Amino acid sequence: MYLVRRAAEETGFRTQKPEALLERIVSIACNPGDLVADFFCGSGTTLAVAEKLGRRWSGCDLERWAIHVTRKRLLGIPNCKPFEVLNLGKYERQYWQGVTFGDSEDKSRAEQALYEYLAFILELYRAQPAAGMVHLHGKRGKAMVHIGAVDAPVTIEEVSQALDECVALKQAELHVLGWEWEMGLAGPNNDLRKGSPMHEIAKQKGVKLLRLLQIPRKVMEQQAAAKADVRFFELAYFEAKISKPEKLTVQVVLKDFATPNADLIPADVSSKMKKWSDYIDYWAVDWDFHNDTFMQGWVAYRTRKERRLPLTSDLHTYQKPGKYRILVKVIDIFGNDTSQAFDVEVQ
Ligand SMILES: C[S@@+](CC[C@H](N)C(=O)[O-])C[C@H]1O[C@@H](n2cnc3c(N)ncnc32)[C@H](O)[C@@H]1O
Repeated sequence: MYLVRRAAEETGFRTQKPEALLERIVSIACNPGDLVADFFCGSGTTLAVAEKLGRRWSGCDLERWAIHVTRKRLLGIPNCKPFEVLNLGKYERQYWQGVTFGDSEDKSRAEQALYEYLAFILELYRAQPAAGMVHLHGKRGKAMVHIGAVDAPVTIEEVSQALDECVALKQAELHVLGWEWEMGLAGPNNDLRKGSPMHEIAKQKGVKLLRLLQIPRKVMEQQAAAKADVRFFELAYFEAKISKPEKLTVQVVLKDFATPNADLIPADVSSKMKKWSDYIDYWAVDWDFHNDTFMQGWVAYRTRKERRLPLTSDLHTYQKPGKYRILVKVIDIFGNDTSQAFDVEVQ
């Protein structure tokens, strides 16, 4: 029994455990309704087993791909109960910064901690610190580098100031690394493949190349950071249209997606990529977003068996007329997510 089930589900991943093993452990250790936790959940075997055995569960992982695989795996369980995926927010990142680099009311110690944070991110990005500048923190090859704060989104104003400093120093390339981004900064453009409105501003100012890169949560994982096993992906963009086909009813259609990271795909795979939607693995809609937790109202994703991905959501009907904010989240084949908010009014 054990061997047969293992063979069927085996993915070849070195530390994979068969569900049958976790079934035994969970069944022995607790009763239905009890809470099972796996704080290093990996691909989510423990959580999937807990769900199937009627236990409540909680899991976490620092790796974006682990969270994505776990989420899809749980959604694939028939009648899986609703769950939330919460991201590490600014308070957790502040905590990480405090315990890693120091947390002090003393101004000079706080400055030292900030300097160490910047040096740490620069090192992971394989850039050198650059002294004597106000908005630019480092240099990588020909590019100047600006790093966003742990506890605030990178703003349009902030990038503009870094661009101005590049212009003053006659530097033609800027890389901005951020944890979060002001709404609209990384938003779509008339032509997605030309980047965001920020890219247009950069060109107007005379900075030829602007790259907006996501600081991965993985930098907070000591072992990965020590091995410099951390990749910074450029932000992707998508276009979606919201239609109102009936009274109180809306529908989302994905229209386009552009990723600047396509050159990371191995040649044998990239030759199979025919259209923009091939780069999307999963997308989801929160019909009534309140600027905090993303509540998944509708979702579409690929599985190993079903490779097709619908690009039109189901219809959603609100209970009452009013103004709503719809959040659309797209996760690409690298496991990176990109979100966009749309304000709608329904009658
Ligand atoms: C081998 S997997 C464990 C999978 C699962 N618990 C199991 O037993 O099958 C280890 C996971 O721990 C995650 N991890 C490592 N350090 C972490 C940390 N500090 N916080 C959360 N997750 C972490 C890794 O990303 C990886 O997915």
